[in-house]
Amino acid sequence: MNIKTTSYSPVALASNLVVALVTPDVARSFAAGKRLSRSEDFLKELDQASGGVLRELAQREKFEGKKNSIISLPVLRRKKMVEVVLIGSEPPEKEKFSSFAQARKIGAMVTDHVRRLKARTVAVFVGEYSKEPALLQAIAQGIELGNYRFLRYKSEEQPKEAATKIQIVLPAQNARAKDALDEANAFSAGTIAARDLVNTPARDCTPGVLLKHARDLSKRWGLSFQALDKKRLEKLGAHALLAVAQGSDEPPYLLKLAYKPRKRTKKIITLVGKGVTFDSGGLSIKSAGGMETMKIDMSGAAAVLGAMRILAELECPHEVRAYIPTVENMINGGATRPGDIVRGVSGKSIEILNTDAEGRLILSDALTLAEREGTDQIIDVATLTGACVVALGNDYAGLFSTSESMARGIIEAGELEGERWWRMPLAPEYRDLIKSPIADIKNTGGPVGGAITAALFLNEFVLKTPWAHLDIAGPAVSDGDKGAVRKGGTGFGARTLARYVLDL
Ligand code: BES
Ligand code: MN
Ligand code: ZN
Repeated sequence: MNIKTTSYSPVALASNLVVALVTPDVARSFAAGKRLSRSEDFLKELDQASGGVLRELAQREKFEGKKNSIISLPVLRRKKMVEVVLIGSEPPEKEKFSSFAQARKIGAMVTDHVRRLKARTVAVFVGEYSKEPALLQAIAQGIELGNYRFLRYKSEEQPKEAATKIQIVLPAQNARAKDALDEANAFSAGTIAARDLVNTPARDCTPGVLLKHARDLSKRWGLSFQALDKKRLEKLGAHALLAVAQGSDEPPYLLKLAYKPRKRTKKIITLVGKGVTFDSGGLSIKSAGGMETMKIDMSGAAAVLGAMRILAELECPHEVRAYIPTVENMINGGATRPGDIVRGVSGKSIEILNTDAEGRLILSDALTLAEREGTDQIIDVATLTGACVVALGNDYAGLFSTSESMARGIIEAGELEGERWWRMPLAPEYRDLIKSPIADIKNTGGPVGGAITAALFLNEFVLKTPWAHLDIAGPAVSDGDKGAVRKGGTGFGARTLARYVLDL
C-alpha cells in the first residue's frame, strides 16, 4: 500500500473507496440534515450523489457515530462507482493504550474494505484523529499491518505488487503529518520483517539463515555486522551457548549488529534477542503438541532485528547494538545431557538440569559479552517461559527490570505501539530456587514462579548495567486474526523497542 496525506479537498471523492471517520456530533448533524462544517461537507456531496440514500441509511441503521459502528453503501458519483464507508469514531479516549489501539483497529478496518473491494484508490477522511500525529501513525500502521499475509508457501496466492493508493485526508494542513507517516511506514516495515522471520519454518530459518538476514539488513541500512562462529565462541568460552547448540547439525552463531548515529552519540543501548530457530526441548524433550509451534522461538531475535531496521531508517540519535545468540535446540548423539555442568563466558558454573530451559543459557553468554563491551542499558527479549504465558496470557508480555525508569519507559512505548507489558518482580525471595548443590547456579527453578526464576537466572549475568528482560512467549504468536494483529507471528516487541529507544 502507498499511504500519503493530503489536506481537505473534495477531489479525494474520486476514489474507488471513501472511508470517513464520523464522530457522534457529526453523525447527529448529518442524520438530522443540519449544517456541517466545511471539512465535513463531503458527506453532503456523497449523500446527494446517492440520491439521499446515504442519509436514509444512516437514519434507518441508527448510525450515531458510536465506536465500532459502521455503514457502507455503493454510490454512483459522476458515473463512477464509489463505495462509501462511514466508521463511527468517538473522539480518542484519555487512556493512551485504548485510543491508540482504537486507531490501529480503524486502520485495519480500512484494509478489510480495501481487500473486499479490491480498491485501487482510497481516501480516508480522518477528522479528529488527525490532531495528534501519533494517532495518524497508529491508523497508518493499522492499514499496513492489517494487510499482512504470509504467502511464501501458498502456490496460488503469490502477492501482487500492491498498487493501492491511500490518501489520508486531513481537515487542515498539518506539517507534522508527513513525518508521522514516514515514521509509521518504518515501524510497519520492521514489524512485517519480524513477522516473516517468525512465520518461516525452522527448516528455512536456521541460524545460518538468520545470519544472512542480519548481514543483508546491516548492508542495506549501513550497520556494522559481525558473526561469531563456533570457533570464536569456543575461544571466548561461550560454553552455555555452545551446550545448547551441540545437539544440532546446524552451526551456532552470535550475531552482532551496531548502528551509530552520524552525529554525536547520546547513549548506548544494547538489545539482546533469543534466536532459537527450533526448540525441540533437547533430551528433556517436549511433547508433540508442545513442539508444533517451536519455530517461533527466535521471536526475540526477530523483534531485535525489526527494531534495528526501524531505528536505522529513522536515524535514531543513540548508538544501538544488537546481540543475537542463535542456535537450534536438537537431539543428535552429541546433545547435552541433563545434569551436565558448563561454564559460560562469565566463568560461573551452570548445572543444566533441563535442556528445555535453553533460552536462558544462550542469553547468559550474550548478556555477559554485551555488558563487557560497556553500554548504558541492556534489554533482552525472548520467548523464554511457558510460565509467563500461564501468568499473563497471550495479550500481555512480562517485563522485569532493575531500573524503574526503564520499566516505565518500556510500558509507555508499548502503549503508543499497541503492545501491552506487565511488570513482574525480580523477587529476591526466590533466588534460592536456582541454587545448585554442586555448581554456582542451575538452569531451572522448579514448578512455581517459572517466569521469575528464569529472569533471576538472567540477572546473574548482568552485574551493574541497568537492565530489562522482556518475556514475549505469550504475544509472540496470535491464534487468530485480530485487526492489525494477524494469525501467526506478530512481530511483538519490535515496535516497543524501537519506540523506547527513539524516545529516550
Ligand atoms: N521456548 C520455550 C518457552 C515457550 C513456551 C515459548 C511456550 C512459547 C510458548 C522455552 O525454551 C522453554 O521450553 N521453557 C521451559 C522452561 C522450563 C523447562 C524450566 C518451559 O517454559 O516449560
Ligand atoms: Mn525450551
Ligand atoms: Zn525455547
